[in-house]
Amino acid sequence: MHLVLLSGSPSARSRTEVVLEHVRQRLQARQMETTLLRVRDFPAEDLLHARFDSAAVQHLQTVVASADGLVVGTPVYKASLTGALKVMLDLLPERALEHKVVLPLATGGSLAHLLAVDYALKPVLSALKAQEMLPGVFAVDKQIAYLEGEQPARLDVELRERLDDSIEQLLATLARRPRPIDPNLLNNRLVNAGWSI
Ligand SMILES: Cc1cc2nc3c(=O)[nH]c(=O)nc-3n(C[C@H](O)[C@H](O)[C@H](O)COP(=O)(O)O)c2cc1C
Repeated sequence: MHLVLLSGSPSARSRTEVVLEHVRQRLQARQMETTLLRVRDFPAEDLLHARFDSAAVQHLQTVVASADGLVVGTPVYKASLTGALKVMLDLLPERALEHKVVLPLATGGSLAHLLAVDYALKPVLSALKAQEMLPGVFAVDKQIAYLEGEQPARLDVELRERLDDSIEQLLATLARRPRPIDPNLLNNRLVNAGWSI
């Protein structure tokens, strides 16, 4: 199964990405194929001018289309998802998340905007027709500690536990979700059953 992780942080040193990297490692340990896409790696011109035909945007669309599920992470900016992530999501086709399970994540400076996942991020993902949206995970900055030197940042125990629960829920949902049937397979079944439409 293929899981795509989207990071909506414009920052080079990103707490959202630390959380996504943790999730990615957990998913890889469960034999999931993963792809991490960061909004800051996209050419700004392609995003700002909505260049649907650019190579980077085409790649985004292809990778998302190939996903069984997505983990979408954003820092809270002004009580919402980042504008950069919104611009990236705007470049996906209608119904881009149809047949996909989505786990939304957000990091913020304080608990004051805990609900940004529910009132800002989830509605955008729903508009893209996510098949199933899992409860979001919100982390405050102090739960993601940067250490001295080159050491990786550390997530606090409570956050790790919540993330692990969400990952289990994501995997369980993926395992039981109805999958779209391949049109060729459907056709063969209809032919074999003596049906025509
Ligand atoms: C422009 C800007 C706006 C922000 N607005 C909020 C906010 O409204 N609420 C909040 O809790 N944190 C806010 N923050 C703090 C970030 O959400 C928080 O530090 C987050 O973990 C940063 O994630 P990143 O390191 O992945 O970019 C803001 C930070 C910036 C740079």
